[in-house]
Amino acid sequence: MAPVTGSRQEPASDRFFPAHNPRALEYPWLAENVPADLRGLRLLDVGAGVNPLPFVFADRGAVVVTLDNHPATRDPDHREHWNEWGSLDYSRLDPRISSLRVAYEQSVIAQPFDCIYSVSVIEHLPWRIRRQWLGKFAQQLKSRGVLLLTVDLVPDTDLLWNMSEGNVVEDAAVHGEFSTLIDELGQTGFAVADTRVERRIPATRVDVGFIKAMRR
Ligand SMILES: C[S@@+](CC[C@H](N)C(=O)[O-])C[C@H]1O[C@@H](n2cnc3c(N)ncnc32)[C@H](O)[C@@H]1O
Repeated sequence: MAPVTGSRQEPASDRFFPAHNPRALEYPWLAENVPADLRGLRLLDVGAGVNPLPFVFADRGAVVVTLDNHPATRDPDHREHWNEWGSLDYSRLDPRISSLRVAYEQSVIAQPFDCIYSVSVIEHLPWRIRRQWLGKFAQQLKSRGVLLLTVDLVPDTDLLWNMSEGNVVEDAAVHGEFSTLIDELGQTGFAVADTRVERRIPATRVDVGFIKAMRR
């Protein structure tokens, strides 16, 4: 995580950015692919960790909810050891954003969303939980709501990244591929509008897949 140079008075979105090169592709893609006019729309950031997007979308008029269940609490007053993983209460930095500390598969949120996004999270889950998440995305999105996912891939393959904080998640044979996830979305009531893969991203050990889907 880059050092924080801003004062509290500077725009929140300038305050931090993970020191992980793929995010320089993922965040601009997210910012381009959410609905153009975000005013009054409800957005959910699943597995938000510590990232700048909630501030960017709140600045564009969205009502943003973040959700993460990481055991590490990220304290805005002590950022020396931050990375992109962790539980951050974004409302401490920006009252327009609310944050839930819960596993997504166990979360209960009554009001539906116009857009749900998740940056580099779902590939870290066992396939059974991944499928629960897809069902939950479908339940929580309004009809024609937008789902945006980015996923790490094993370099020069289409295999979904199979590690989470240094631990193997499950056997690669059951974990699945990028196309598995796309097929699962189709089976869960999504129309997949766009997919792409970026490879050979400098100074990183992953390729990255991008998926834009719409709830039917
Ligand atoms: C690789 S980090 C990505 C963080 C952030 N989205 C970003 O842009 O860098 C994965 C995050 O997903 C969270 N996560 C993993 N499993 C989760 C679950 N079951 N429910 C909610 N969050 C989860 C982790 O705690 C971690 O903060």
